[in-house]
Amino acid sequence: MAEKKKFQAIKGTRDLLPPETDLWNRVEQTAREVFGTFGFGEIRPPIFEPTELFARAVGGETDIVSKEMYSFEDHDFGELEKLRSVLLIRELELENPQSASLHKGQLTEFNAALEAGMKGRKIPVTPENERALDDLKMHAARIEILRRDYTGGEWQARERFNASVTGIRQALRVVEFGDVISLRPEATASVCRAYIEHGMHALPQPVKLWYTGPMFRRERPQKGRYRQFYQIGAEVLEMVPSFAAKDAATAGGAKSAPKDAAVDAEVIEMVMAFFARLGLEGVKLEINSIGDRECRPKYVELLRAELLKVKDKLGPDSQRRIETNPLRVLDSKLESEQAIIAGLPKIADHLCANCAAQYAEVKRQLGMRGVAYAENWRLVRGLDYYMRTTFEITAQGLGSQNAVCGGGRYDGLVELLGGQPTKGIGFAIGEDRLILSLQEAGKGGTALGRDVFVAWMGEKAQATAIAAAQKLRAAGFRVELPPVEQKFGKALGQADKLGARYALILGDDEIATGQWTVKTLADGSQAKMSEAEFLELLRKSL
Ligand code: HAM
Repeated sequence: MAEKKKFQAIKGTRDLLPPETDLWNRVEQTAREVFGTFGFGEIRPPIFEPTELFARAVGGETDIVSKEMYSFEDHDFGELEKLRSVLLIRELELENPQSASLHKGQLTEFNAALEAGMKGRKIPVTPENERALDDLKMHAARIEILRRDYTGGEWQARERFNASVTGIRQALRVVEFGDVISLRPEATASVCRAYIEHGMHALPQPVKLWYTGPMFRRERPQKGRYRQFYQIGAEVLEMVPSFAAKDAATAGGAKSAPKDAAVDAEVIEMVMAFFARLGLEGVKLEINSIGDRECRPKYVELLRAELLKVKDKLGPDSQRRIETNPLRVLDSKLESEQAIIAGLPKIADHLCANCAAQYAEVKRQLGMRGVAYAENWRLVRGLDYYMRTTFEITAQGLGSQNAVCGGGRYDGLVELLGGQPTKGIGFAIGEDRLILSLQEAGKGGTALGRDVFVAWMGEKAQATAIAAAQKLRAAGFRVELPPVEQKFGKALGQADKLGARYALILGDDEIATGQWTVKTLADGSQAKMSEAEFLELLRKSL
């Protein structure tokens, strides 16, 4: 007998079940409708992509890429991988001829398979793999010679032999049998990759895309924070005409400020309209400008210098960030650091003329659209691709993980990923958190329920019941049709439990007269009517 094992969803993941999934569908449908009115079309990128894509776009030093991605090697060389493990753990002794010949055989086999795989392009022909193969072949040949020298009395050969064994191990570790891929931690990188891959710069610009689906980050799970979570996001991408500028991040200079700002404001207006349509409560929008390539580096240096002066008063995380990314210190929630941070120089006072003009225009544009906002100079975001406008939206009922949406401008990202100079702006909403907030505010209530429960009695009635259920379902009503005959009392009890609005009672009498008995479950009232009259009643009352 197989051992009884209880399987459970993996930590940080969960099942979404009815009736809650009704709410999820309603939220996604509302996004589809609202975003559609702004001219966005849906994109469905794959769930996994090359790790390199995220490393480049989001940034290799960010928490997301350096600590939180689910990555694996994707290849057909399981046996070869095992052989590598064997070679890596085998002790190779200079004096032991048996171990030596086994090692030689296996290493030769490994090298041959690796070479064949690369020739057939089944194993990636990267510079790293090519170098590793050369090293492996070189060391394999050298080891044989060194062994002969050693047995021939040349004692210094031992040292060179050991060096070659180390060289083999190092080369073995470097070999990659396939692409390293990751479950997506976010989708902006994928959307930009798709924009380039499908030549979307040739479409009328800007290209407006939205998406929904699961994202994966290996964070510490808590309320509103999961390892598989869902986002609803949107991106606006616009290629910069070649005459305008060398690159997207500086394209058009001051002249493009009003246009970019209007695009930013409209994107923000769209999220706010979506939240309003859902009735999300306690919505707060915060905005900031984090400058561009021109002014941000200077500000970061200034910040670093100021932080170094107060280094001793900062916690270990912030101390580390003085070196790696001083901007992230502004993100700190540590109580003891708040007073210090409040005294630091603010980026708004150090923006270059272009960025300052654009930031002012974003605020004016938001005003024109009736979008209320607060400025937060400490809003820096945890992904590397942003420049100028950044924003975050919080909602009520979420505790510490209260950001329901984050976004910003990322001119230059498409170029960084191998495309043409392109401007970009977008956001992603944490759908799990959005749903939680709606539920906390009592707006999650959509019980699954049924419109009609068909209570049929007698063999003859089943055929009529089936036909009635078919008609009602075709008209779009939710119908429960019990598979077997039930006693009247039991049927009504079940109809009640399922939250049905009406019980359609079909027995010998109803079949004979063509007059159906309809019971309204809310008040217990009962009436006789024809099929057509019942359909009419349903249409009017639901
Ligand atoms: P992000 O700020 O990393 O931005 O994520 C956006 C939202 O996803 C967050 O505000 C939060 O609501 C939700 N979220 C993030 N991590 C988790 C988690 N572990 N569990 C539950 N919800 C989570 C981005 O992802 C950017 N791609 C947004 C963007 C699009 N910027 C420009 N375009």
